[in-house]
Amino acid sequence: NQPEADALVLFGATGDLAKRKLFPSLYKLERSNTLDVPVIGVARSDWTDDDFRTHARESIEAHVDDADDEIISSLSDRLDLIQGDYADEATWEELRDTLDRHGSETAVFYMAIPPSIFPMVAEKLASVGLNERGRIVVEKPFGRDLDSAVELNQTLHSVFPEDHIFRIDHYLGKEAVEDLLVFRFANTLLEPVWNRNYVRSVQVTMSETIGVEGRGSFYEGVGAIRDVLQNHLLQVIALLAMEPPAGPDARFLQDEKAKVISAMRPIECSQMVRGQYVGYRDEDGVADDSSVETFAAVRLEIDSWRWAGVPWYVRVGKGLAENATEAVIELREPPRMLFDEAGSPPPERNLIRLRLGKNDGVTFALQAKTPGPSLDSQEVDVDVDFAAALGERQDAYERLLGDALVGSLRRFARQDVVEGTWAIVQPALDEPGEIFPYFRDSWGPSEADNILEPGDHWYPPSPAR
Ligand code: BG6
Repeated sequence: NQPEADALVLFGATGDLAKRKLFPSLYKLERSNTLDVPVIGVARSDWTDDDFRTHARESIEAHVDDADDEIISSLSDRLDLIQGDYADEATWEELRDTLDRHGSETAVFYMAIPPSIFPMVAEKLASVGLNERGRIVVEKPFGRDLDSAVELNQTLHSVFPEDHIFRIDHYLGKEAVEDLLVFRFANTLLEPVWNRNYVRSVQVTMSETIGVEGRGSFYEGVGAIRDVLQNHLLQVIALLAMEPPAGPDARFLQDEKAKVISAMRPIECSQMVRGQYVGYRDEDGVADDSSVETFAAVRLEIDSWRWAGVPWYVRVGKGLAENATEAVIELREPPRMLFDEAGSPPPERNLIRLRLGKNDGVTFALQAKTPGPSLDSQEVDVDVDFAAALGERQDAYERLLGDALVGSLRRFARQDVVEGTWAIVQPALDEPGEIFPYFRDSWGPSEADNILEPGDHWYPPSPAR
């Protein structure tokens, strides 16, 4: 861990991310008395400090239920706005003078700005010596392919050392995603079966019912593979597949992720199906003949002792039938079917369903005897709903902002892991191949079945509760 920050500088303070996520999270940190630093916004908008405070208040009121006026006021007292062009030296001198005035030695510089200006902001920080006085938080997208991610890392490294670069992947801030570590490594029950000897396949689904909803022109330059597969899903898969870290230090966790990511084969184009929902091309900002995917299904392979030969089926998409983020671990059949009486159906396979979305929790789908004279079996669920069992949890941005302020890297993405995930998806970007239409409210194009082995099928995720 690093020294605690004594100031938070928000670049892009009047933008959309700050409005939707950062101010509500700052409010929550203020509410829990964990925020005790000045918050200095930097933006090109022609706003006064008061406009900025009003903006923060409105964003909190729009995103936090029953926001408390006193807490908003104490947060407002921390806010200052530096208004200026990022290209202008004077903006940077003013920022340095403001930090001097606050006596700041370790600031968090949060880049809630378009990635195209990350390099400029990093270099300008260095031009006034502020790179020596803090750490940087970088939002996704972190590059748009392997080469640009490597280049961005080089630029940032010319100004900040790796352990001062906090790359945000908000999935790593979700309690249910972090719980994968605890679930796997605090339950002796699981480790013996968590490997190729007992696991038949793993399926990971991230499905959203919404379409691109007004973000058409952004999405056209991205698509589902870059938007969520390269980052959120591969991070989740790394946590599901990695070996136990050597210790609690963030470095050990990142080492294990890097190791399993390097054991993952790059996507084979024959093992990938891309889809686009019918109606996507009518969205604002979308080309009439767009071939950008709003759905992707891929089969991944991990060449490790633990996972060799086990297919990892992954699908992500918008305009699908349910909102879900779920991993289904499908176990192999028992070695002998003891109860295989003539006419009775074979027992279904055991499943471990890890729900990582809003309905987070875990379900073990087991077999139990169907009442009656025969030995038929049927599925029964042993289920835990985390909200009911564990109570309210912090949201992802609140935790990640808090982590950046205290200097804890555990829930951020390290350079080699980010570059490794780009290397995995790169063939899919180079040779995207055909795109198949699908109707909204479906599970994507039926061609997604083509990547499954004979006898396999997609498990629909658990319905939202
Ligand atoms: C973002 C993507 O990173 O994650 C969005 O850009 C997506 O397209 C979002 O909708 C999903 O996040 P969550 O937390 O709602 O699952």
